[in-house]
Amino acid sequence: MAVKLGDTAPNFTAMTTEGELNFHDWIGDKWAILFSHPKDFTPVCTTELGTVAKMKDQFDNRNCKVMALSVDSVEDHHEWVKDINETQGTTVNYPIVADTDRKVADLYDMIHPNALNTLTVRSVFVIGPDKKVKLTLTYPAATGRNFDEILRVVDSVQLTANHMVATPANWKDGDTCIVVPSLSDDEARAKFTKGIEVIKPYLRTTPQPNK
Ligand code: BEZ
Repeated sequence: MAVKLGDTAPNFTAMTTEGELNFHDWIGDKWAILFSHPKDFTPVCTTELGTVAKMKDQFDNRNCKVMALSVDSVEDHHEWVKDINETQGTTVNYPIVADTDRKVADLYDMIHPNALNTLTVRSVFVIGPDKKVKLTLTYPAATGRNFDEILRVVDSVQLTANHMVATPANWKDGDTCIVVPSLSDDEARAKFTKGIEVIKPYLRTTPQPNK
């Protein structure tokens, strides 16, 4: 069954390139991204895993861990990582799950047989420290993901969790935010010391609170 927003992320214990890991223990009190790719030794995947390695400090800055997954073996992952490091000019610095029995792929509904027979598609799950799923994304095999967009979403969901603001269309870090509808005008004025603008009763903005 598909994992939906707000669900508790299914827990699992799996072999990875960093040894056997229990997913919830590995997350601990941090944020996490679990992302699947179709296959080792394939071109788009090679660029994706290299890109994520190069962005690791940006995920760290957001207190967010990353874990990749495919249905290939841990031996294949280790061999492929050498190619990723060589061709992408980086060092893969996060665990890759070897989901050879498709246990995790089934738990997270990462195999979409009408698109890609037995391989995992490009799924992304952003998970909060409460282990709840904050974002799901599914991309086709031939389209590499935009990990800048995934960072942008992490910024947005963290702002909502920590500051009770939402973010408008095409929002970028530093832009004006939206006061969540659950706050009254009085509560919002008390909370957002930089002020609020009431454009409509349901559309109220405030400068980004953590800038
Ligand atoms: C790729 O990573 O390049 C890829 C993987 C599976 C199908 C198509 C492309």
